[in-house]
Amino acid sequence: MIRNIQSIIPSIPTSDGAGVKLRRSLGGQGNLRLDPFLMLDEFSSNDPNDYVAGFPSHPHRGFETVTYMLEGHMLHEDHLGHQGHLKSGGVQWMTAGRGIIHSEMPQQVSGAMRGFQLWINLPAKEKMKPAAYQDIQEESIPKLALTGGGSVKVIAGEFKGLGVSVHGPISGITTAPLFLDVHLPANAMFDHAVPSEHHAFFYVYEGDLDCGEPMVSVPKQAVVVLGKGDRLKVKAGPMGAQFIVLAALPLHEPIVQYGPFVMNTREEIEQAIEDYQNNLLVG
Ligand code: CO
Repeated sequence: MIRNIQSIIPSIPTSDGAGVKLRRSLGGQGNLRLDPFLMLDEFSSNDPNDYVAGFPSHPHRGFETVTYMLEGHMLHEDHLGHQGHLKSGGVQWMTAGRGIIHSEMPQQVSGAMRGFQLWINLPAKEKMKPAAYQDIQEESIPKLALTGGGSVKVIAGEFKGLGVSVHGPISGITTAPLFLDVHLPANAMFDHAVPSEHHAFFYVYEGDLDCGEPMVSVPKQAVVVLGKGDRLKVKAGPMGAQFIVLAALPLHEPIVQYGPFVMNTREEIEQAIEDYQNNLLVG
């Protein structure tokens, strides 16, 4: 069964960190979320004034941050001195767990900076586990040619093409995420399985795309939440299209969020704030 569009969450221009300009869809106005996805930011600018200030030191607890760089170079550093370079085409999957204090700073003063940051919730039983990273460079992400033209990068989950099955490099995540970056030439079709028990959306960042049965056009730079079904069927318009596809198992747990802390109860949030103030956030 083809998944049709259930709802659309437009992205709203905003800024975060020390003034980085971005577009927030999930987690923006009205705190609209799609369990387990908490937030989605798209950053895209050729003007260094929009990004050079970066994201200085800040904490997280209780969820995962996923940064996918399309273009640019950021240096990630945490409170333990761990460093990671986020470069064009690479992904950093950070499980904040009990706590992390980190910064994400641009390593360029000109040129384009482009990508996404996604926040994915952790189940209650994993919110206090030690922080961990999966730093994946572009060359470790499988990229497959599509039979109808175009290509797909498999960042997480399984992609099944004609006679091939490819798993993305991200592993060991309880919500069993699927994360694809799909590029289609003009008028090309893309039809792929998305497990029926997963919540799913896609986000068009270039070009134009139609979706569903019957096909309807979707807005660019918006989260397109998909309804029930087990397949995603889309068709690129005359400009072609580039879009990310995300799906994951919902947690069905209460969410209490205070900025960069996402827990299940108010008491746990108060504890997180107290731990942060007492330098006990990180275990
Ligand atoms: Co952060």
